[in-house]
Amino acid sequence: MTKLITVFGSTGNQGGSVVRAILNHPTLSKEWKIRGITRNINKPDAQAMVAKGVEMVQADLSSKSSILSAIQGSSAVFGVTNYWEKGTLEHEVMQGKNLADAAKEAGVEHLVWSSLPYVSRITEGKLVNLHHFDSKAMVEDYVKELGVLASFVLPAYFMSNIPNSIKPDKSGQSYSLSWLFHPDTAIPMLDVPRDFGKFVAACLANPSATLGKHTLAASGWFTPLEVCKAVENVTGKKCEFHEAPIEDYQGSKELFDNLMMIREYDYYGSGAKAGVKSSHELVEKKPCTYREVSFPNATEW
Ligand SMILES: NC(=O)c1ccc[n+]([C@@H]2O[C@H](COP(=O)([O-])OP(=O)(O)OC[C@H]3O[C@@H](n4cnc5c(N)ncnc54)[C@H](OP(=O)(O)O)[C@@H]3O)[C@@H](O)[C@H]2O)c1
Repeated sequence: MTKLITVFGSTGNQGGSVVRAILNHPTLSKEWKIRGITRNINKPDAQAMVAKGVEMVQADLSSKSSILSAIQGSSAVFGVTNYWEKGTLEHEVMQGKNLADAAKEAGVEHLVWSSLPYVSRITEGKLVNLHHFDSKAMVEDYVKELGVLASFVLPAYFMSNIPNSIKPDKSGQSYSLSWLFHPDTAIPMLDVPRDFGKFVAACLANPSATLGKHTLAASGWFTPLEVCKAVENVTGKKCEFHEAPIEDYQGSKELFDNLMMIREYDYYGSGAKAGVKSSHELVEKKPCTYREVSFPNATEW
């Protein structure tokens, strides 16, 4: 008998990747029916899901009652929140708790929560401004307190962020990449559309390996020098790395702490390398090289 998974964020990066990974999986595609959630069923991204055979249902994470009716009958739920819509820890925690409460009330057997490391705790109070990480970790704690059976998938640094840090020179003949990192800082990066869903699919395929644990969703580790090589590979033009001074990042405490978490704590905290390696084994995924780095939103190039 087929089971039902409800996927939040199905019209976005992470949820969209989850839907595609299930539809493309040889066994999961036969075992699971997919229900996608959107706030607006008429939008083109929602209709594109309908065309793939996904049942699209309207719900809003800010309303527990709408979540509860949308997830009825689901054995599994994938949950993701978008911190940047309101940009506050409190709002994201409220939405995540709504989802956790509804999952408990509806008797969901497996919640897959898109989480992130609890930075203020890991850094023992040294980095306290990374609210979009701490908020997701607070929801993770709440899910555990409620006793909802859950797997926690932690997306790495999105490769789609990279173009924001790359600028063409005046002649348009070369590029420069400017970051707070050292040239050899290893950064766990994720090609979200291509890879994120594979890690969630692994949770559905092998829950005994992921329930209650962190699955670290990274496509691979890349240094700024390797990212420059990838830019050169894609554009055919030279790309030079510049280590930006700390003073350049005084504007946004959240961004500064985000970059410092990567530079000083491997993004995921201690055990990051081993955690990514064992998560790759779950998806039988080989670490990718700089030649496979993609820049999903680099249309301006
Ligand atoms: N940038 C990074 O390097 C990085 C790394 C790790 C984690 N993250 C996290 O990734 C998250 C964003 O994920 P994403 O890129 O997959 O998002 P996205 O592509 O911007 O899509 C957001 C999705 O969430 C849905 N959504 C938003 N508000 C909703 C609400 N109130 N109720 C129901 N659905 C709602 C949207 O659906 P509709 O609009 O169709 O309703 C859409 O499908 C952020 O919280 C960020 O902190 C980012």
